[in-house]
Amino acid sequence: TAYLVLIVALAFLLGVMAVIPIGGADMPVVISLMNSYSGLAACAAGFAINNMILIVAGALVGASGIILTQIMCKAMNRSLANVLFSGFGAVSSSDEKIEGEVKAITHEDAYYVLEAASSVVIVPGYGMAVAQAQHALKELMELLEARGVDVKFAIHPVAGRMPGHMNVLLAEADIPYDRVLEMDEVNPEFATCDVALVVGANDVVNPAAKTDSSSPIYGMPILEASKARQVYFIKRSMRPGYSGVDNLLFYQDNCSLIFGDAKDVCEGLAAALKGGAH
Ligand code: TAP
Repeated sequence: TAYLVLIVALAFLLGVMAVIPIGGADMPVVISLMNSYSGLAACAAGFAINNMILIVAGALVGASGIILTQIMCKAMNRSLANVLFSGFGAVSSSDEKIEGEVKAITHEDAYYVLEAASSVVIVPGYGMAVAQAQHALKELMELLEARGVDVKFAIHPVAGRMPGHMNVLLAEADIPYDRVLEMDEVNPEFATCDVALVVGANDVVNPAAKTDSSSPIYGMPILEASKARQVYFIKRSMRPGYSGVDNLLFYQDNCSLIFGDAKDVCEGLAAALKGGAH
């Protein structure tokens, strides 16, 4: 019993020490790695008690978790060693001095620009999931398409809080797969699109990932929404996203914020499109 307690205490310590130094933006990779470890632990338990099902199921979970971890490391432009060990002694504050001011507009103002646009790229993020705004977005997409607007959805590999989070929600709302583009496919489109509509996303479009080497998200590939002619953010406040970093895009000249719940704002935009100009 004494050995068991000691091993449990050491395992607990090891678990906490392994996770503490990992920066916020790398957390998705770590979650996936932890899933993999749980499979390996089950596999080891299978050997200990001679249970074939545990060995096979544990090995499957362990192997698929490692593959997913590898894919996510690639998406975040990091090596696994860098994710696990680079956070020691890291400072999370950013050196970048923010210039410019935040412009807040209402959804009625945004309506006029949206209905005159010829192409719109929608960037969904965690806030879309919180607000369950995917059905309102589908309606918005249909109304815009009925006016001849080209609408696409841009998916970042770590948008939301789990792999494939955004894809699942958009599929649930029956948004056709051909409108949903992955980061590499959609990034070249931003430079020529009229409006990037960022719905409850934040970190995945933050230019600090490219420009601010002291930022905790530095090096993470981002959706280049900042290149669109006009960027509209739908969010409730100035609070940062998961990584806790201020978004430099808010202060850019071509960017405005529409404050509110993602579902309410999208429904408001859809109502405005249905009813014509208000
Ligand atoms: P975040 O950067 O977390 O930003 C989400 C934004 O949604 C927040 O700024 C929040 O602002 C807004 N929001 C929340 N509720 C809302 C609502 N009801 N209506 C409107 N807006 C709302 O999200 P992201 O851009 O999707 O990036 C994901 C982040 O999570 C990355 O840093 C990623 O590393 C991390 N992460 C990802 C995963 C996976 S596997 N995908 C797992 C763990 C962590 P307000 O509060 O002001 O509204």
